[in-house]
Amino acid sequence: MIETKTIVTTGRFPQPSAEFVKEYLRRRPYYSGAMKTACAKFEILDDEFSMREGHDPIHRIESRLKTAASAYEKLARRGYKQTPENLDLLHDIAGVRVVCGYIEDIYKIAAVFLSQEGVKLVNAKDYIKSPKENGYRSLHLIAEIPVSLSQETKSVPVEIQLRTISMNMWASLEHEVSYKVNDDLQEAYRRELKTCADELFAVEEKMQSICHRIRSTPSGEE
Ligand code: GTP
Ligand code: MG
Repeated sequence: MIETKTIVTTGRFPQPSAEFVKEYLRRRPYYSGAMKTACAKFEILDDEFSMREGHDPIHRIESRLKTAASAYEKLARRGYKQTPENLDLLHDIAGVRVVCGYIEDIYKIAAVFLSQEGVKLVNAKDYIKSPKENGYRSLHLIAEIPVSLSQETKSVPVEIQLRTISMNMWASLEHEVSYKVNDDLQEAYRRELKTCADELFAVEEKMQSICHRIRSTPSGEE
């Protein structure tokens, strides 16, 4: 059984114009459809692997929709005009986070998801193979998924972050440090966090290797 959590982000962002909100609301069923469809696809794959292989690759799925205000703020941060049409430039209004047990589960689930009919990969950033300088690791995908409403079917982008449980713990702590810790203490915490990221990854690789060996050995043979 996977845990599923849906977050509706709220925040202290500047108020978007009325026409921007109107267009956002017109599109929202598409964004929300893409988010729900992606979640359902991952849940279905988890069920299938769990039946077939006897263990769940996915530990937890989280999803969130960026609010109109947050999308409006992001356009300005990226140097784009805050026009309703520029909502097209944002690929992470629908967001899904898939937390897996092992690193190999991430790649297995991502490959099967991307091979499904209708799912189109727009962009992939592999921060597991090439971690960020601060130690951040995850596999990021932007995929387009078809969403059918009553009148029309559209391909809608969704940002998918796949990570292990320990990468997820690390990212939550790093996020907390970046907004809760004073500037003068940031550097020391960041050094500690970088060490933690590397140590966690080394342990995960060892555990992955044990897991791989026992799963590929028929029981009773070792
Ligand atoms: P934004 O969407 O504006 O953040 O930038 P982006 O789309 O260019 O960057 P990227 O794909 O690297 O990151 C998108 C999301 O990944 C962020 O919104 C975070 O949720 C997560 N993320 C990326 N880098 C970090 C990091 O260093 N620490 C943590 N905690 N999360 C990160
Ligand atoms: Mg993004």
